[in-house]
Amino acid sequence: MRDGTLTNLAPQWEREATLRVMTAYVAHELNHPLGTIINLANTLSRQLAKPVIKPQDIDEQIKEIKAEAMRATTIIKHLRMLTERRPVGRSVVDLVEVCQEAIDRLASLAENKMIRVRLHTCTPRTKVHGFKALLETALLNFMMNSIAALDVPMIATRRLTIRVASPNPETTVVQIFDNGCGVPEHIRDRMFEPFVTTKPEGSGLGLAIASDIIHWHRGSVSCRSRRWGTCMEMLLPCA
Ligand SMILES: Nc1ncnc2c1ncn2[C@@H]1O[C@H](COP(=O)(O)OP(=O)(O)OP(=O)(O)O)[C@@H](O)[C@H]1O
Ligand SMILES: [Mg+2]
Repeated sequence: MRDGTLTNLAPQWEREATLRVMTAYVAHELNHPLGTIINLANTLSRQLAKPVIKPQDIDEQIKEIKAEAMRATTIIKHLRMLTERRPVGRSVVDLVEVCQEAIDRLASLAENKMIRVRLHTCTPRTKVHGFKALLETALLNFMMNSIAALDVPMIATRRLTIRVASPNPETTVVQIFDNGCGVPEHIRDRMFEPFVTTKPEGSGLGLAIASDIIHWHRGSVSCRSRRWGTCMEMLLPCA
């Protein structure tokens, strides 16, 4: 998957390995929308059990469930593209919008964990060619890791900062900073490989998915980390 493609010419073992990784990717990325759908359905059941039922609230919940189910379908469709060579129509995507939507999606989780989330836009060059749902998936994986790294007791103010900048006229970079526990040294040179994890419940796929998505968009990912601080970077060619 490193070159982001699966061809008919690839040997059988390679195709099987890619298929295994792809199946794991889809399962990994469906967890989030399915969890949200279950929560929304539970809220809906509670509302329906109330003595007074407000139709607009019910309608709202149903719309959210549908939107999340649509998101799940889009994720499956777009993840499949990572293995295909055929050209697909990319649209112009504003990375600031992607960041804002990802932040909104994780806002209540961050609030529960007392994490201060900030977005800084330092460039007007914020547009890239690509797929919004995929770019958001990559960013959400970075942010989820930051949230996990911040989930330790010794930090006075937990910060997760996203910065959109442009190091040169051709490139836009999204940097995800946290002041969490830092990437353990023994995995730093393999952390973008599938199935590398230090978490008891982790599958080690979040960074591999993010990295494949960014490479598919002709970009690159990197990480600088020390104890109490990590900066993940995704570099993309500007539109
Ligand atoms: N911001 C970060 N701070 C500290 N460690 C990190 C950070 N991002 C990643 N890591 C380390 O890299 C490992 C791999 O991350 P990755 O997202 O691929 O898998 P995971 O988070 O363990 O599991 P999951 O598949 O659920 O995402 C993590 O287990 C963690 O040790
Ligand atoms: Mg992860």
